[in-house]
Amino acid sequence: MLKNKVALVTGAGSGIGRAVALVCAREGASLVVSDIDAESAQATADLVRAVGNEVLVVQADVGNPADSEHLVERCCAHYGRLDVACNNAGISGPSARTADYPLDGWDQVVRVNLSGVFYGMKYQIAAMQRTGGGSIVNVASILGMVGFATAPAYAATKHGVVGLTHAAALEYAAEGIRINAVGPGFIRTPMIQALDEDPAVHQSLVAAHPMGRLGEADEVAELVAWLASSRSSFVTGSYYPVDGGYLAR
Ligand code: NAI
Repeated sequence: MLKNKVALVTGAGSGIGRAVALVCAREGASLVVSDIDAESAQATADLVRAVGNEVLVVQADVGNPADSEHLVERCCAHYGRLDVACNNAGISGPSARTADYPLDGWDQVVRVNLSGVFYGMKYQIAAMQRTGGGSIVNVASILGMVGFATAPAYAATKHGVVGLTHAAALEYAAEGIRINAVGPGFIRTPMIQALDEDPAVHQSLVAAHPMGRLGEADEVAELVAWLASSRSSFVTGSYYPVDGGYLAR
């Protein structure tokens, strides 16, 4: 349960981030809903309000350190605390083999997917230290553990998120701040819509998951909510796949 907790979610305007915001709301949390796209964040906020919970909307680019700092400041100014942060915002980036990978695409994926999680944690941890603890859940991927041809930047940044999670968890374990990562398999969200609409690609993605289907955003959000709550009170520095068996092969 997340009653009396304040939960911040980045990339909350769509897909997994929206599902995380809604599960946290249903568990009783007050929300900070953030996205680079103000309109979609507002739409998520309306859904959170419909659950009956308080919500603050802050537009922020996670790849911009000033935005990440401002986001936590707004949260603390409004609620006086931050208990849960889900660093979820991410992009898939261009699709190309390493030798052909565009330099600007590499920089952009690293900026959002890896530096974005670092900037987020930098300011979230400082806020949690002031109130004596908290839980951070970073959204990595199955591609934080294994590779995927034509996604070198995405795989590198998601592996990086897992390493960052391990290091930071060690640093703050004794201060009551738990830091974990989740590794979704392919989840039916706008991020993979174009892939999923190609019947041949859809079949190969489905076949890669032993459960014989893709995942749903809600299925990832349930795991995030568990890691966010005190039900996982002895869990830190871990990586949890939620992948229909993808990594078991
Ligand atoms: P999505 O594309 O549906 O949603 C991503 C959200 O992040 C969007 O609302 C977008 O506006 C926002 N965003 C993008 N760049 C941003 C930035 N610089 N600052 C703030 N917000 C930004 O994607 P989805 O599928 O919900 O992905 C969420 C997370 O889950 C990402 O980190 C993604 O890498 C990860 N993931 C997704 C998988 C999938 O199959 N959908 C599989 C494994 C991991």
